[in-house]
Amino acid sequence: MEKTMIIIGAGAAGLSAALEFAKNGIKSILVSDMPSERAQSVMAEGGINAALNTESDSSELHAKETMKAGRYIADPRAVSQMTAAAPEIIEKLFSDGMAFTLDEEKRPDVRAFGGQSVKRTFFAAADTGKQLMHVLIGQVRRYEAEGIIERRTGWTFLKLLHDSEQAYGCVLLHPITQEKMTCYGKVLIASGGLNGMFGNATGSVRNTGAVSANLFASGVKFANGEFIQYHPTTVKLHGKNMLITEAVRGEGGRLYVLENNKPVYFMEEKYPELGNLMPRDVVAREEWLQMKQGKQVYLDMSHLGKEIYEKRLKGVIDDCIRFLALDPRKEPIPVLPGIHYFMGGIWVDADHRTSMKNLYAAGECACQYHGANRLGGNSLLGALYGGSVAAKSAMEDEDIMEPPSPLVSDREAKEQTAGSYVENWQALQDIMKNGLAIIRSEETLQTALADLDKLTEKVKKEYDTTATEAENQALADCCLLGKALLLGALERKESRGAHTRSDYPAEREEYQKQTIAEFTGGKIQIYFQKAGEQK
Ligand code: FUM
Repeated sequence: MEKTMIIIGAGAAGLSAALEFAKNGIKSILVSDMPSERAQSVMAEGGINAALNTESDSSELHAKETMKAGRYIADPRAVSQMTAAAPEIIEKLFSDGMAFTLDEEKRPDVRAFGGQSVKRTFFAAADTGKQLMHVLIGQVRRYEAEGIIERRTGWTFLKLLHDSEQAYGCVLLHPITQEKMTCYGKVLIASGGLNGMFGNATGSVRNTGAVSANLFASGVKFANGEFIQYHPTTVKLHGKNMLITEAVRGEGGRLYVLENNKPVYFMEEKYPELGNLMPRDVVAREEWLQMKQGKQVYLDMSHLGKEIYEKRLKGVIDDCIRFLALDPRKEPIPVLPGIHYFMGGIWVDADHRTSMKNLYAAGECACQYHGANRLGGNSLLGALYGGSVAAKSAMEDEDIMEPPSPLVSDREAKEQTAGSYVENWQALQDIMKNGLAIIRSEETLQTALADLDKLTEKVKKEYDTTATEAENQALADCCLLGKALLLGALERKESRGAHTRSDYPAEREEYQKQTIAEFTGGKIQIYFQKAGEQK
């Protein structure tokens, strides 16, 4: 069989993987429903972390702070490999022409970011992801011209081809023509987070979570699903939450509430050391406590000055004027925590192998680097580094065998009914948002589980002929994955990082483990295992 790798997703992780294959002369098929220019990675604003390895910083300290922010359930080997690789990644991006914001010596500048004791977040004003993707897309185009990277833009992942041992490839669907295409080869998933299952996220709901959900339904392990990052500074708009980058606080922006008409800087008062730049889970929880008392939280950047507005936060002012009709140089931004990132994902080892042979995952769809809470600036790094590591593992592993026939992934056909897909999908989003809100409890989780069971029964009976086959299947798979996330949250009887239980407010040592969800024999199993170990 011809050695072709299949990459699902053309954001930073997918492009990084494609480049790694191409540099080694290996052909890949790069599948995405949207062009790379519209990938989630383009929306990353604040920066990308790397230690400068000076007297005050080191890759070891970066690793230590990543582990601490993740409350010690990230894979320590994966984290230290990633932080060790980070400085070289920045150098390479700079020499490849990425438009970093520069310091006086014309070298990439750094800014402060949450949960870190030193400045180590490299950035391109407030559009770091866009500049980074610009570089990667250019590099990929060269290989596309040579035919070593083959794009399949506009195609949707329909299902994984696998047996009980290994993956053999996948089936793609063209949502407009309904044409199906079967691709055989090792599969590398870089399909992003689960925004679509929740809605109202800072990121694109085009990242539905459907690919991860299909893998889960196919028996691939999923880990740490209950750890959902609520970004402390978002603004609610129609159908989404607009991100106000952490860089605003990194450059000196301050959070406050009003008491007797006077500003109270609640983060600075409670956490004098890191103040507004405490890890995101802490800031989001503190905001929630203020909001519970009926107070509005504000982000003030009116004191920062022209140079910062124009050079380091370019874009933030324009976006606020354009989308919020508010000039943050003159008035504070009313903010609230909003869903921003999924720390959990497809379980992978430190080399990005999933629990199924010939299947790899990287970027936000995979778990390993961020534990219970991600440091801002570590996602672009994890995507770039993870994509290339996953590609290396795929190249190292022995070649794929011919698929036996028939493959077991063919699902039973459903009775066709009309018109309920959108309604059901919205019901799923409401259930997930309520069940996995910033604060959870046995009661809220049980309610969500009962509601989800009802929805699942309904979805099982329906096949909406106005939606595509992929959409119908995604809904069913996402209901199953949603249940796994809720069960994980229910079983984790403690509070850790982004998982806060009102009925178990303390962190408990016995849970310093990853939550593993597995779908076997028609049932979801949840168990806990130490990061870096495999059952
Ligand atoms: O706030 C931000 O700019 C987000 C950055 C990140 O999530 O890494």
